Amino acid sequence: MIVLSVGGSLINPGEPDLAYLHKIAESLRHNRGLGIIAVTGGGKPARTYAEAIRKLGGNEFKADETAILSTRQNAHLLTAAIGRKDGHVIVPQDFDEAARAALSGRIVVMGGTIPGLTTDADAALIAEKLHAERIVNLSNVDGIYDSDPRKNKGAKKYKNMSFGQMVQLALRSDERTAGTHFIFDMFACKIIARSRIETHFVNGKNMLDVENAMRGKAHGGTVVKG
Ligand code: UTP
Repeated sequence: MIVLSVGGSLINPGEPDLAYLHKIAESLRHNRGLGIIAVTGGGKPARTYAEAIRKLGGNEFKADETAILSTRQNAHLLTAAIGRKDGHVIVPQDFDEAARAALSGRIVVMGGTIPGLTTDADAALIAEKLHAERIVNLSNVDGIYDSDPRKNKGAKKYKNMSFGQMVQLALRSDERTAGTHFIFDMFACKIIARSRIETHFVNGKNMLDVENAMRGKAHGGTVVKG
């Protein structure tokens, strides 16, 4: 089984990117035989709603609960793109339902689950639960760099790295000021490290790299493994 963590900003940078949804859906249909579980992030709507909740006096738990609804809306967008005729696509409520559906051969598209987590963590957890072969992380960045490539032109991209190296890098960026965040959150890093789940980081818009990563073939991103 393959778990894809699809960054919310790819699906919904402000409003749904229908062209992108069609492309990623096509790729999931094409690779269905691998056993697909896609986890969709919240994108801009999740941030907008969480911020509105805070301004209204809601606490972080409520902001998270609301943001989870955005991640689930994005999951529904992706299932619609995969195809109305395909009754084998499901948006599960929790990890158990996701696991049952995946084991029965359905394409699973899930959003967030529990307040306090991120969809990267959800992807790592469902991969751990199902002994997935690999995780493919799709984002706007084409791999893991030794510093933020958007801020540092000389940033160097890793082709391969160990779980330990990844956790160290995530720790270093955690220590920096708020606002700079690592490509994969610390909780997700620790889950893949403890269960040694091979994880590929690719630019989600580079469909060739996405396909290659799903199939465990060489690509232009970063592979984290033991
Ligand atoms: P993500 O942060 O995972 O989505 O979830 P994203 O849009 O892919 O993130 P970026 O911007 O591309 O990095 C959005 C929000 O949903 C809540 C959190 O508030 C999180 O910030 N969430 C998500 C949860 O509370 N629990 C979950 O299991 C997942």
